[in-house]
Formats: sequence, structure tokens, C-alpha cells
Amino acid sequence: MRMSTQKFKEMKLEGQKIPMVTAYDYTFAKIVDGAGIPIILVGDSLAQWSLGYDNTLSVTMEEMLHHVKAVVRGTARAHVVADMPFMSYQADVSDAVRNAGRMLQEGGAQSVKLEGGVSIAGTVDSLVKSGIPVMGHVGFTPQSINQIGGFKIQGKVPKTALSVIKDAQSLESAGAYAVVLEMVPAELAEILSNRLSIPTIGIASGVYCDGQVQVLHDMLGLIEDFSPKHARKYVSLAESISVEISKYINDVETQAFPSDLESHHMTSEALKQFREYYK
Ligand code: KIV
Repeated sequence: MRMSTQKFKEMKLEGQKIPMVTAYDYTFAKIVDGAGIPIILVGDSLAQWSLGYDNTLSVTMEEMLHHVKAVVRGTARAHVVADMPFMSYQADVSDAVRNAGRMLQEGGAQSVKLEGGVSIAGTVDSLVKSGIPVMGHVGFTPQSINQIGGFKIQGKVPKTALSVIKDAQSLESAGAYAVVLEMVPAELAEILSNRLSIPTIGIASGVYCDGQVQVLHDMLGLIEDFSPKHARKYVSLAESISVEISKYINDVETQAFPSDLESHHMTSEALKQFREYYK
């Protein structure tokens, strides 16, 4: 049985923190699910880390769906959240309902995530009324990078902090079951976590959030030329992979690979007949 949105609200009430990570494909989703992560985000950050785009704006509904399906196939227990890509929900509400519906119906996800606050609260309300659970996302919203003008902490002064609070509250009122707080000061995240009845899931927003979300590629050290301040690199996989691939190259070049044990052989009888035949 998969984790439900109700369970995350219970975890908040019980003071139990909610760990969340991204996964973009079957293999990583299977590992992460097996390790006991209760909630997985198929983030649109896969635009950069799986598909090599410059930012999240380029990834399409079809590309997201392809990855959501793979992650769902790799998981049995985790709740899978599908990130709604840029322009799949902003233009109009019926687009939003249709596209979010596809994430559940075709993709097999259990909920969707949308960026924005007050401006998309009406859309969130329509999605929830259509039976689609919604996770909100406020603070720094990467799909608005061109408007924000870079990776900037949101809510550092009272006026902007108030606007982040209004955004988060509007999502709660619209029926969102949780909200991601990205790049907001820890003090503001603490206030929001205390005031909201729904769980706050932080990224670069300090320790007081009800849960934390991390990009798996950051945690595993898969991206060598990008390491954000908020991310903890638990292992340097890119480095380890590179070392092991160099060993493989050398083994192939020197014929140390494959060994006899890594090869298949004919029986001696078959070999005898074969040699006879091909004399
Ligand atoms: O796409 C993503 O990885 C995200 C997280 C940063 C929350 O939205």
C-alpha cells in the first residue's frame, strides 16, 4: 500500500519529519523506494540532470510523463509526486486539470506539484475538486527564473516574507495537501511550519520545515560542476563512476576483461563436433 497524502498530514501532527527526494527513472526510484523514502518527486529538474537542458523551462508534458511512468514502475510503497512542467497549467484551468489528470491517469502518479501561490490558488482549487491531490511550491520557483532574475532567496525582508506567507496560505485554503518552501530564510520557514496545518517541505529553507526535499543527483554527487550550498553530498558517485570506468577501459584494452569465468563455453563434445564440421 502506497503512502497517502493523509499520512503526511498525520506525520506533521505527530512531529515526524518527512524525507523526500527526487527520482527520474526506474532504477533510482527502485533503490530509493527500497531504502524507505515515503515520498518521491519526479521533479522538472530532470530537465537539467536527465535531459541536459539549461533550465526547467524546456521540459514538456510528454517528457515528464515518460519519466513519471518509469518512476511509478520502480516503486511499490512511496507516494509519487509528478511535477507539472512549465506551461502545462499556467495558461488556463481546463489545461491544468487535463494535464494534471494525465499525470495520474497515464503516469500513475499519486499527486502533482505546481509552482506559485496566490496567482494559481484558483487552479489548485479546481484540481483538488477534480480529485487530484496537489503539492504547492512557493518561495523561489525555478519556472519563473526569468522573472526573478536568478537564484535568489525569497522573503528576506518583511514585505517579501509577507508575500511568501500569503502564497502559502492561499494554497492551504485552496486544498493543497503540502507545500514546498524553496530558498526562504529558516526563520520564515519556521513561522510557516507553525502556522500552516499542512506539511511544509523545505529545500534550502532550514531545519524547521516539516520535511526536506533534496535533488538525488546533488546528494549522490552525480553532478561534478554544480554543488549548491544547501545540498549535502553524501557520496561522490561521479568521481567513483569515473574511476571504475577508467579501470574497465584498461581491462578491455589489456584483455583482462572478460575472464574465462565471465565467458560462455561450448561443451567439449559440441566443440569437437564443431571443429570437425568447420575443418
Ligand atoms: O524539480 C525539482 O527538483 C523540484 C525540487 C527542487 C523541489 O521542484
